[in-house]
Amino acid sequence: MGSPPARPPAAGRGGPPRPLISPASLQAAVARLGAELSAAYPDGVLLVGVLKGSVPFLADLVRHLGASASVDFLAISAYAENTGRVRLLKDLDTDVWGRDVVLVEDIVDTGLTATYVLGELRRRQPRSVEVCTLLDKAVRRLVPVPLRYVGFEIGDEFVVGYGMDFEEQYRNLDRIVAADLNTLRGDAAAYVGTLYRS
Ligand code: IMP
Repeated sequence: MGSPPARPPAAGRGGPPRPLISPASLQAAVARLGAELSAAYPDGVLLVGVLKGSVPFLADLVRHLGASASVDFLAISAYAENTGRVRLLKDLDTDVWGRDVVLVEDIVDTGLTATYVLGELRRRQPRSVEVCTLLDKAVRRLVPVPLRYVGFEIGDEFVVGYGMDFEEQYRNLDRIVAADLNTLRGDAAAYVGTLYRS
């Protein structure tokens, strides 16, 4: 996983992965968010993605922007066990000072990661900074995060696909499925046979 959850998610339901968001629904949401961003930033915007989970979403999103857009990435460490503490592993190449910036996230769960990254960005004095997240797991929020652009709100479940992983598996699924964490903890590849055709 990009970062292990800071507190355990709801107990898994067991059994096979459950389809949650189809490729068509994902693409419709990305198109909607692209249109919203195009309207909000007619003079261009810098999209900042957090590696690695945001990559498929950001790659699709940027192709729906009608105005010029730059892209940059940063990487942060997983939480230290039982703390919300993260640190910057890879910094941006771009100076965000005076820029309109949108932080692009795959999922906002407790909100600790987005809060940390927003703090880093704001410290560098962009002209504006907003958050665009594909998924909002609002029910698990520990720290309030201002989410300006949201694809879907989901419940308290662990999901994989379309960028999101468990131990680096399942990022390349074209859809999002709800997974049973206990099953994956027993065998990270447990769903490979079910979720991939070959
Ligand atoms: P946060 O709890 O909002 O700080 O989220 C931290 C990170 O945990 C996210 O950026 C994801 O990388 C990861 N994460 C949280 N929930 C899930 C999930 O359901 N599936 C996969 N990764 C998740």
